[in-house]
Amino acid sequence: MTDNAKKYYITTFGCQMNEKDSEVLAGILRKMGYVAASKIEEADLILFNTCCVREKAENKVFSYIGELRDLKSQNPDLIIGVCGCMVQQKGMAKKIRKSLPHVDLLFGTHNTHELPDLIENILASRTPQISVWDTEGAIREDLPAERENPYKALVNIMYGCNNFCTYCIVPYVRGRERSRNPEHIVKEIEELVNDGVVEIMLLGQNVNSYGKDFQDRTFDFADLLREIDKIQGLKRIRYMTSHPRDFTDKLIKTIAQSDKVSKHFHLPVQAGSNRILEKMNRGYTREQYLNLITKIREHNQDATITTDIIVGFPGETEEDFKETLDLMAEVRYDSAFTFIYSTRTGTPAAKFKEQVPMAEKKARLQRLMDLQNDISKEINESYLNKVVEVLVEGTSKTNSDMLTGKTDGNKTVIFPGSDLLIGKIVSVKITEPQTWILKGELEEK
Ligand code: SAH
Ligand code: SF4
Ligand code: F3S
Repeated sequence: MTDNAKKYYITTFGCQMNEKDSEVLAGILRKMGYVAASKIEEADLILFNTCCVREKAENKVFSYIGELRDLKSQNPDLIIGVCGCMVQQKGMAKKIRKSLPHVDLLFGTHNTHELPDLIENILASRTPQISVWDTEGAIREDLPAERENPYKALVNIMYGCNNFCTYCIVPYVRGRERSRNPEHIVKEIEELVNDGVVEIMLLGQNVNSYGKDFQDRTFDFADLLREIDKIQGLKRIRYMTSHPRDFTDKLIKTIAQSDKVSKHFHLPVQAGSNRILEKMNRGYTREQYLNLITKIREHNQDATITTDIIVGFPGETEEDFKETLDLMAEVRYDSAFTFIYSTRTGTPAAKFKEQVPMAEKKARLQRLMDLQNDISKEINESYLNKVVEVLVEGTSKTNSDMLTGKTDGNKTVIFPGSDLLIGKIVSVKITEPQTWILKGELEEK
């Protein structure tokens, strides 16, 4: 039936927001009659859903698309599209068209719903199509999504960001904060659970701001978690990302009281020095952050805590950096995503004097990663002989006899077992903890 169907191939960069957007793009294409191509060479439509949070991500996109020149010259009917955050930057669509003329489709983060029309225009007129709105439109509740994983689902609860951290491009490419109605969110999750989903990840650039834009009611993120917690059949609730500034006592207590909300707290600190935190416009001090961590641990004994940290922000001195190292040692994170500061045109920090030399940034990153690896290893070693509950996600990529899954605290566990367990929550005894993963054995019941 699908032999003659057109095929799409989507490559996704960046965060879970983009992953979710790609699921929506795939859903739209399916509705148009397209099917997924198993290889990029077989596709009639290739889409790059891009990220621009750091320069590296952008460079990758340019080089990937560059490599498709031959494919396009062999098959002039092939449509090559670029969408997502990178395209949303001022002047970028034109820049891409100029340097990569074999790209025929460009659209921004607010234009996903236009995909069918844009494709139709290309097919009818054989001319490239560009659609990038400067401002966000209304939230679209009518778009389908093609889920990657049968047991886990990504659910948007809000779009955009109002924080304007001085290093960050996201508010410029994702627009202002807009929250989805709780009724829509709950209904979507109920449908997902009916479809076999056991774990959901609630998505927003700052989920703690959820509901602040409602005109007609008072309803915050904690209220939303309480509603979702009631959904029968749902087993785990995760969320990404929460800002340390707006993490209320009400939210800490709600999470502590819930069986389903994960006790994994991802709290990006970005820097340990108050001077740098202020220049970053993060809205909290080191002391307030540490206080929050203490409160979270008081209420949630099993909490796992992770973070994001940037090294080499403009003006960061050795003293400032040492405060970041100290903070890392004090909090003892389970793991940390560490980044070298990347200058993003259009953000305030791009104009700050005293940019830190690359060699110094690299050296600091290494010192930070070394410290975190030691801490991660020590924490994971404390899991030896402990029994953890694991949601089985699939078979290991390197060994099909091994299963891989996640604990409530988001630790990856690998153990031998049958693939019939995929999608189930099982007890695993940890026998071999490592820095990045925990290896174990199924606990016989
Ligand atoms: N909304 C999320 C983060 C989105 S970006 C939050 O506020 O936590 C993910 C991470 O990328 C950020 O936490 C930050 O650590 C990093 N990041 C953002 N802009 C960056 C830049 N210009 N250079 C390096 N890292 C950056
Ligand atoms: Fe960027 Fe800050 Fe918004 Fe996160 S909170 S997306 S780091 S501006
Ligand atoms: Fe990147 Fe856009 Fe996410 S810039 S990090 S894909 S919101």
